[in-house]
Amino acid sequence: MDKKNSPSTGFGRTEETLRPDSPILLFDSGVGGLTVLGELRKLLPQAPVIYAADMAGLPYGTKSEAEIAARVAGLLGRMAERYQPRLVCIACNTASTIALGMVRDVLELPIVGTVPAIKTAAALTKTGVFGLLGTEATMRQAYVDDLEHQFAVGKRLLRHGANGLVPLAEAKLRGATISVDAVAQAVKGLVLQHHGGEIDTVVLACTHFPLLEPELRAAFGPNVAFVDGSQGIARRVAHLLEGQGFARTTPDRAVTTGDLADFRRLEDALSRFDLCDLIAF
Ligand code: DGL
Repeated sequence: MDKKNSPSTGFGRTEETLRPDSPILLFDSGVGGLTVLGELRKLLPQAPVIYAADMAGLPYGTKSEAEIAARVAGLLGRMAERYQPRLVCIACNTASTIALGMVRDVLELPIVGTVPAIKTAAALTKTGVFGLLGTEATMRQAYVDDLEHQFAVGKRLLRHGANGLVPLAEAKLRGATISVDAVAQAVKGLVLQHHGGEIDTVVLACTHFPLLEPELRAAFGPNVAFVDGSQGIARRVAHLLEGQGFARTTPDRAVTTGDLADFRRLEDALSRFDLCDLIAF
């Protein structure tokens, strides 16, 4: 384990200086990180959390690598300074596969990223053909090529950049009803590929996508299983914070870089994750 991931405290801090109300900073471009927060709450119900949504930068999936890396590293630097988190979790596959190394270089804190669950899916598939759904930016990362070469040897991994699912997930959490047709349209590029009909397992490699799991199940039919990385990420965070004390002194906050009035449309959804104080960054 490297020193930036030392289990008890962040860099340069000792158990004595780490305040029990120091939060975990969970970061995503939008509401996707809530899928990770849901799992984290199960493991660390007492831990104070700041949920940061870069709504002004949403969507990341259509942006260039340079734009995402600069944006994520810059924002997390400013947020870490303002909120003094004990750990930062980048609950976004696009940001993690592009900017994790850079963020680790600039922040003296434990940083947990999000990795597409290719290893899990490769172990699950019976047909030997499995799918990877993420943003277009994630699909083209060398990080993903490496995971494929490492874990999908002898299997067939079909990828599809489904940027269209991101606004659907955002709309769903603002109260909209999402049609199965709209979801099917956004993912049809996966199943229409050669061997696409043999897919029995699909990796949801964008934290927004598990929010659409019922619609995805209906679109893919009963013979396809879905896996995502949220439980593994939550376990990793809990492991790094083992032995630390937690005390929530104020309601957990959700922060947006975007328009606060729009963010308030998410009030119901955010309150289901115990995020009751909505503020602008
Ligand atoms: N939630 C993000 C991910 O996991 C991406 C959504 C976006 O395009 O901003 O990749």
